[in-house]
Amino acid sequence: MNDDHLLRTATGYARERLSDKRFDHTIRVAETAERLAGLHGLDPAKARLAGLLHDLARETDGDTLLRTATENGVSIGDPEREKPMLLHGPVAAEVAESEFGVRDEAVLEAVRVHTTGAPGMGPLSLAVFVADKIEPGREGEWVEQLRELAERDLREAARESLKSSISYNEGRGRTIHPKSREALEWLEDGS
Ligand SMILES: [Fe+2]
Ligand SMILES: [Fe+2]
Repeated sequence: MNDDHLLRTATGYARERLSDKRFDHTIRVAETAERLAGLHGLDPAKARLAGLLHDLARETDGDTLLRTATENGVSIGDPEREKPMLLHGPVAAEVAESEFGVRDEAVLEAVRVHTTGAPGMGPLSLAVFVADKIEPGREGEWVEQLRELAERDLREAARESLKSSISYNEGRGRTIHPKSREALEWLEDGS
């Protein structure tokens, strides 16, 4: 399957499965990820594809997410059992592989880890993770700062974004996914 065909298929699939609002978000993430990839020496087509795929399962109900994850051997911990929506990235990656034949591990990882981040995540995953936070539909002074940071350094932008969302959620007594903490530690470590 060539790139153009994959991009069209992923767009059509997203259009069918997502509300207008989330489809528009998806397109903006794809465009932002593509642009960031261009700025940081990554493959723009792969970034666009991962952006198009990232939220494919975002409007899938919790039971279906849990079932699909189980069928595909996706690991399910307490956070996922409590909040199955956390599985929408891993499940989208499975769908991308099994239904569209996406074999590129960087693209699959970017889709899989876009919600929580993950220690050791690759550059394409960082681009998609950050694009999800700074796409033009996101507003606020903080987002503006993140946009500027993302132009210069994807790791730093991902780190700042994770740091602020973790402290925001902590402040509200919400459970923090262990992967997010590990991702932040890894990003702060600079390795
Ligand atoms: Fe998402
Ligand atoms: Fe998203």
